[in-house]
Amino acid sequence: MEFMRRIEDASIFISEKSKKVDSSGIRKVFDLAQKIEDPINLSIGQPDFDVPNDIKKEAIKAIEMGFNKYTITQGIDPLREKLADFINKKKGTKYTKDDCLITSGVSGGIALFLMSILDEDDEIIIFDPYFVMYKHLTNLFGGKPVIIDTYPNFSLSDKKREIESKITEKTKAIVINSPSNPTGKVLSKEDIFTVYEIAKSNNLLVVSDEIYDEFVYDVEFFSIASIYPDGTVLLGGFSKTYAMTGWRVGYAFGPYAIIKEMIKLQQYTFVCAPSFAQYASIKALDYDMSEYIKSYKMKRDMVFEGLKDNFDIVKPEGAFYIFPSPKGISVSVEEFVNKCISEGVLIIPGNVFSERNTHFRLSFAASDKTIEKGIEKINKVYKMFH
Ligand SMILES: Cc1ncc(COP(=O)(O)O)c(C=O)c1O
Repeated sequence: MEFMRRIEDASIFISEKSKKVDSSGIRKVFDLAQKIEDPINLSIGQPDFDVPNDIKKEAIKAIEMGFNKYTITQGIDPLREKLADFINKKKGTKYTKDDCLITSGVSGGIALFLMSILDEDDEIIIFDPYFVMYKHLTNLFGGKPVIIDTYPNFSLSDKKREIESKITEKTKAIVINSPSNPTGKVLSKEDIFTVYEIAKSNNLLVVSDEIYDEFVYDVEFFSIASIYPDGTVLLGGFSKTYAMTGWRVGYAFGPYAIIKEMIKLQQYTFVCAPSFAQYASIKALDYDMSEYIKSYKMKRDMVFEGLKDNFDIVKPEGAFYIFPSPKGISVSVEEFVNKCISEGVLIIPGNVFSERNTHFRLSFAASDKTIEKGIEKINKVYKMFH
């Protein structure tokens, strides 16, 4: 009997570490959204276009050719070879295929990296606003996220003293994400050099999540991997650029000792990235996505122009998110966001990505028509509270 009762309440088995992972912010938006018919969805973290046909055909070909079994743990040689060339040309690095691990998306890369380096209470420096996974996975693997606020401009070059003051003997790595989810901020060369100098002089690893590196608009993208190869784990992926979020292909480049450890742990967790998708990713690297990116720059302009009068915004230079804060409203941002959602516009409250709740995230990975309707409604809600 005792046994039966325990199984009925299976939640008693959940670990404290797992309980610490909080997804309530996003869930609340999805729950509210369920009640809305035909919402204007500006909450989505993936492109609104589909995988280009040539890349789809390559995936189908791979399946039909019988390329359906496990691949080697670190990913197929031709993909790692081509990727090393591609990244070297794009980012000025000097990688070979042996510095590379193909992961199950960048999510897989983040998890393996943290598993590889974290002992109990080891510290990871994360900049706020942050991509949620960094904080939660650090907690899950027994580490401690040390969060540094980067408001209002989200740059790092002016935060050197503060970053240094947070370093202890437990600090192992600094996480950077450029272009950023949720702000669209692209770190400048000065920002990158600031992180590099701190990391180098304190013997820290840098994990650089560059998943949005193709979505860069009017500025130059600079990767820390080009100046700090021995201390950087560069993470990137195919999810966003080629709209293949469901195919689960990402990659990690970095110092051999870390990559080797990540490969070992991949063997006992993800095993390998999906075989057919690895095969199609080789083709994807030849595919010119510049027209798609151009259209996203136009969407960025449209959203920024549409919101800038009523909201404080750092104009996004990359990714497909904007992170505005309503100017002088009479209610909390939480209430503002709830009202937008009940009016049919799905956006995500800032506290999902931050210790603050002063902003919201809007994804412009949507059709122009959806963006237009969304801007109009958000400004209408603003007027109700201003
Ligand atoms: C900053 C950032 N990193 C990593 C990921 C994970 O992407 P994936 O696992 O699909 O490669 C995302 C997805 O939203 C992201 O925004």
